[in-house]
Amino acid sequence: MSTNNQVNGEVLVETRNLTKVYLDFWGRKKKEALRALNLQIYRGEVFGLLGPNGSGKTTTIKLLLGLLFPTEGEALVFGRPGTDVAKNERIGYLPEESYLYRFLNAEETLDFYGRLFNLSPEVRKKRAEELIEKVGLSRDKKRPLREYSKGMRQRIGLAQALINDPELVILDEPTSGLDPIGTRWMKDLILELKAQGKTVIMCSHRLDDVQDVCDRIAILYEGELKELGRVDELLEIADLVELRARGVRLTEELKRDLEEVIRRHGGTVESVQHPTTTLEELFLRIVRESQLHPGRRYLPQVERSPMAAPVSAGSAPVESAARS
Ligand SMILES: Nc1ncnc2c1ncn2[C@@H]1O[C@H](COP(=O)(O)OP(=O)(O)OP(=O)(O)O)[C@@H](O)[C@H]1O
Ligand SMILES: [Mg+2]
Repeated sequence: MSTNNQVNGEVLVETRNLTKVYLDFWGRKKKEALRALNLQIYRGEVFGLLGPNGSGKTTTIKLLLGLLFPTEGEALVFGRPGTDVAKNERIGYLPEESYLYRFLNAEETLDFYGRLFNLSPEVRKKRAEELIEKVGLSRDKKRPLREYSKGMRQRIGLAQALINDPELVILDEPTSGLDPIGTRWMKDLILELKAQGKTVIMCSHRLDDVQDVCDRIAILYEGELKELGRVDELLEIADLVELRARGVRLTEELKRDLEEVIRRHGGTVESVQHPTTTLEELFLRIVRESQLHPGRRYLPQVERSPMAAPVSAGSAPVESAARS
């Protein structure tokens, strides 16, 4: 799935002890939205940030982009602090809520953002045309965005996020407002970005979407990291074994003595593997366990994934392991 970044292992995004406390007008602590988050995201992977409403996903993204200042710890992107906004030239960002000018049409919108990135008029025109085509808005490109449906706004938002041909694409709820066809299209586009070597970080509530496109995921609950790992490994049910056979009929005799009988009946064992659970089940289990054991957190296990890079000084586990 993500063999390249396993080999190269270049860390593109790193958070160390990243903590955000929102303060009220009087400077009093209002909400601890993120607590001591330690993450490493590698070049070329599609990374999913999951968690219930209010768990700190958007806060994490805003800290990476320098739209918020950390209360403690640091967020590094391309090795630079999140607050160094110059690095954002290499990032594309689709926010949770559309902030685009509603009186501009699609062409004007992309031209406007192209200017912000100092693209030449020729490059702006060429990119805008390509992106409008790519996001399927060619027929509607002259209409002001205020007339756009939610799904259309999501499409132009994505085009805007790609105008600077970014290395890192951050998508906050990319499939929100899209119908099943639009959702499929968005997922294919995310995979296309990955195929081009781009790194994608996405938040989503739609767990099947995450399952389909993400290499690794982090699950947040009330600002704490509860789970981190490769989707295929997290969804593996280690204590069950599934056996698939071809060339034989499934008889009772076969069931009794599976592998041996399959061979005797002239068939071959095609695969023996662990069956997987769904991400929805995993997600609900983590939320349930988090409610039962409020203090428990995810403990990095270097040996669990070959992608796990050396644990840096700031990313040492703080409390006990989440997985038992
Ligand atoms: N500007 C703010 N002032 C005070 N509290 C805030 C502010 N922004 C977010 N919060 C709080 O921080 C917590 C995390 O919010 P955040 O927006 O990061 O969640 P989220 O995981 O993106 O949720 P959702 O799935 O609903 O988008 C929430 O409890 C939220 O109420
Ligand atoms: Mg959010």
